[in-house]
Amino acid sequence: MTDNTARKIETALPDLEAYWMPYTGNRYFKENPRLISRAEGMHCYTPDGRELLDAVAGLWCCSAGHCHPKIVEAIKQQAETLDYAMAFQLGHPGIFELANKLIEIAPDGLDYAFFTNSGSESVDTSLKMALAYHRIRGDAGRTRFIGRERGYHGCGFGGVSVGGISPNRKMFGAMLPGVDHLPHTHNLEHNAFSRGLPKWGAHLADELENIIMLHDPSNVAAVIVEPIAGSAGVLMPPEGYLKRLREICDKHGVLLIFDEVICGFGRTGDSFGASRFNVTPDLMTTAKGLTSGTVPMGAVLASNEIYNTFMTGPESAIEFAHGYTYSGHPLAAAAGCATLDVYQEEGLFERARSMEDVFADGLHSLKGEPNVIDVRNLGLIGAVELEPIEGQPTERAMSVFRECFDAGVIVRTTGDILAFSPPLIIDEKQIEIIVEAVRAALRKQ
Ligand SMILES: Cc1ncc(COP(=O)(O)O)c(C=O)c1O
Repeated sequence: MTDNTARKIETALPDLEAYWMPYTGNRYFKENPRLISRAEGMHCYTPDGRELLDAVAGLWCCSAGHCHPKIVEAIKQQAETLDYAMAFQLGHPGIFELANKLIEIAPDGLDYAFFTNSGSESVDTSLKMALAYHRIRGDAGRTRFIGRERGYHGCGFGGVSVGGISPNRKMFGAMLPGVDHLPHTHNLEHNAFSRGLPKWGAHLADELENIIMLHDPSNVAAVIVEPIAGSAGVLMPPEGYLKRLREICDKHGVLLIFDEVICGFGRTGDSFGASRFNVTPDLMTTAKGLTSGTVPMGAVLASNEIYNTFMTGPESAIEFAHGYTYSGHPLAAAAGCATLDVYQEEGLFERARSMEDVFADGLHSLKGEPNVIDVRNLGLIGAVELEPIEGQPTERAMSVFRECFDAGVIVRTTGDILAFSPPLIIDEKQIEIIVEAVRAALRKQ
């Protein structure tokens, strides 16, 4: 085959019609397709060979860099050895190994891991754990959940119900009953251009006390928040806010769930948001970085108290009637073990912390560029918020996205906010390339 023929085959697009794409404007995409056919390290490549610097780590997931050789090798070996083992009443060694590795890096006291296949499943699992926990303890009235405005907890019915993003909720009826929401913490008047945690806003946690008292503590099961809200635009918790939530939950016997699907695995410059902010939840949901995005997997980490509460009744009885065919899938387990090894061997959580200031300097240098109304950052998470075009919300950020893509950089938009969450292997030069691509795109608006 000549080089030309090979290139032609690679660049010929398949028919795009049949695939109903998630969270995508299908018609626009199919008219203007952007495909990735290969990836390595910090880069993705289009079918016609264009190189793109990935400022988002896939979708906040490929934290060890794309196609890390050690993770790829572990997946290959596993695929040749054991494709699947029954997940209920049977097990395989890899998943026990992964549970052990996971609790080793988790905050003290979160010593049990329940495996799922995604962040959405982790969230719904954690909500069910909370309900069942109270019921086993004889507190069956505790059925209400409290989420937060602008929270994203995936797209299962539970996650959408506790989530706080209107477009994700409006088409889907009544969802879970008995859910209330805390106010979000985003406030540009007080906190614009904060580096790290904003100083203003810890008092917003006190609204939790009011909501719990409104419903009476005896009816409230759990509060769920992301330590840093990711999908609704990268909203940092004000200093002291998460600690205050913890105190109020403790006072009223309400469980605290941290959704760490985005914050987990080094993203905040520590193993989890809980560790970075020094607040330990009762349940912690994870996914994404657990396998560096290579094989779908999530996990819920539970406190000893919660696990032990379930471990009652006849020894052979099922304690928690919940689980997925692919809970702890061998390929995901192998990918997860290799990923956690890579994070440790390459010191990637520490690296994220050590790059935090460089990343912050780069992003904050965009202050003063056209239409930039806020920049915020922590660890290797950042956001640049733009003034929307009047009457055309999201269009300005989408236009920056397109310009950056054409300039060889992948950024992510949510509303009129540009979100950044690069692989933890990013270096200074690559941070500069991202920042300069965004600057150039902003100047073209
Ligand atoms: C905080 C949070 N929770 C849950 C989810 C859902 O994860 P998944 O898309 O794997 O179901 C996400 C996805 O972005 C997330 O950011």
